[in-house]
Amino acid sequence: MGKTTFTALLIKSLLSHSKKSLLVIDADPASNLAEVLGISVPTTVSKVIDKTKRYVEKKPDTYNAGALLEYQLWDEALFENSSFNFLTMGYTTGRGCYCLINEVLTYLLANLKSYFDLVILDEEAGLEHISRNTKRPINLNFLVTDPSQMGFQTVRRIVELSHDLQSPIDKFLLVGNMFSDVHHQESLRKLAQDLQIDLLGVIPFDNTIAHTNLQGDSLLEIPLTSPTYQKIDAILSQLLKTLKIP
Ligand SMILES: Nc1ncnc2c1ncn2[C@@H]1O[C@H](COP(=O)(O)OP(=O)(O)OP(=O)(O)O)[C@@H](O)[C@H]1O
Ligand SMILES: [Mg+2]
Repeated sequence: MGKTTFTALLIKSLLSHSKKSLLVIDADPASNLAEVLGISVPTTVSKVIDKTKRYVEKKPDTYNAGALLEYQLWDEALFENSSFNFLTMGYTTGRGCYCLINEVLTYLLANLKSYFDLVILDEEAGLEHISRNTKRPINLNFLVTDPSQMGFQTVRRIVELSHDLQSPIDKFLLVGNMFSDVHHQESLRKLAQDLQIDLLGVIPFDNTIAHTNLQGDSLLEIPLTSPTYQKIDAILSQLLKTLKIP
């Protein structure tokens, strides 16, 4: 638990460190990253896909549906402000359609390098996005877990599944969320060691985070003095240094 919260605070930190062009994608069908960031997206990628599909059905087979879809996505689904760009993938009730959303996301990720320096994805919980997406160019995969057996098991399974599938993820980075007890932190350290992945750091339970969420306020507005933000900011600074990202 804590993926979306971590993503939001990582974005806040990135915006303060780097002038890089940034695209954020909410790839969880139960999307809530936009709310957490306090932004309002015009529409979702899945809605644009549905609309384009209905339009293309009436056209001859030779019609360039891909080009139309791509144009419509940028034109209708992209949220832009002076700091970052944002897409919500959304969900569909149509049969078999999730495959299409998934294909579109894979296509976008493969073709975005020329537009953005950095792309951040907030994924759904669990393993499906790993097994579905063996062709996506993902450089860093942050694994956020709370101190629970379920969380630890999911981390273990994601890493093992990625090895089994020879997925193209370059690096896993483990983050503990809501870790206050030192014994729990030690268990997390052992997990990282066991899986041979880096433990980036741990974030404590923070009432300000819970309060901000409950109030419906943007996590981007959380004070710079928030210990949780400072922790994530320190994690990011260290990471940018290690990876030599200016
Ligand atoms: N460090 C923290 N301290 C206090 N509350 C937190 C902390 N991290 C997350 N929360 C709260 O826990 C809830 C779940 O967090 P979040 O939405 O980030 O998890 P998630 O992993 O994205 O969940 P999902 O699997 O549903 O997408 C939210 O209400 C959030 O405000
Ligand atoms: Mg989430």
